[in-house]
Amino acid sequence: MAEANIIPLDNVDPVLVEELLDRAFEPERKQRTAYKVREGMDWLPALSFAALDEQDRLTGTIQCWPVGLTDGEGRAHPMIMVGPVAVLPEEQMRGFGQALMAASLGGLMPEAPLPQVMIGDPEYYGRFWDFTNAHTQGWTLPGPVDPARVLVRCANPAVLPREGALGPWRR
Ligand SMILES: CC(C)(COP(=O)(O)OP(=O)(O)OC[C@H]1O[C@@H](n2cnc3c(N)ncnc32)[C@H](O)[C@@H]1OP(=O)(O)O)[C@@H](O)C(=O)NCCC(=O)NCCS
Repeated sequence: MAEANIIPLDNVDPVLVEELLDRAFEPERKQRTAYKVREGMDWLPALSFAALDEQDRLTGTIQCWPVGLTDGEGRAHPMIMVGPVAVLPEEQMRGFGQALMAASLGGLMPEAPLPQVMIGDPEYYGRFWDFTNAHTQGWTLPGPVDPARVLVRCANPAVLPREGALGPWRR
C-alpha cells in the first residue's frame, strides 16, 4: 500500500483534475450517464478529495455531487452521488482508490448521512464499502446504464424508494 496524502480537491488546479480524468477514463467520458445524473451541479467541496503520491504528484481524485431520486409522487429524496473515483493507470492497485473513498465517506455526517449512490463495479464498491445494487432495480437514470452497476449505500435501506428517477438535485 502506498502512503497516500489526501488533500481537499479545492486545493488542486481544475485543469490538472481534468487531465487526470482524461487519463483514467475513455475520451468519451463526458457522454457517460453518470455525468447526466449530476448535470448542472457543482461538486461538494467537503466530500471531494485528491490523492498525492510520495513525490506530491496528483495521483487520484474523487468527487461527490448533490443528486435526488424523484419518487412516483414527485417527491425528491436527496442523495449524494460518489464519483468519478479515478486513479492514474500506472498508480492503480496501490490503495489510492480505497484512501480516496475512505476520505469521502468519512466526511459524511455520522448522525444523519444521506444515502450515497454511484455507478461502478459492484465487486469493488461492495467488497470494501457495502455498496449494493439490491435496492436500485426500480430506479431509472437519464441514459443507458447496466442495472448491476447502479449502487447505493444506506444505513437503513427501508427508507429508499423502490421506484424513482435519479437526477440532479432539485428542491
Ligand atoms: C477503480 C479504481 C478507482 C480503483 O482504485 P485503485 O487505487 O486501483 O484500487 P485500490 O488499490 O484501492 O484497491 C485494490 C484492490 O481492489 C481490487 N479492485 C480494484 N479495482 C477493481 C474493480 N474494478 N473491480 C473489482 N475489484 C477491483 C483489486 O483487485 C485489489 O484487491 P486486492 O487488494 O485483493 O488485490 C481505479 O482502478 C480506477 O481509477 N479505474 C479507472 C476509473 C474507474 O473505472 N473508476 C470507477 C468508476 S467511477
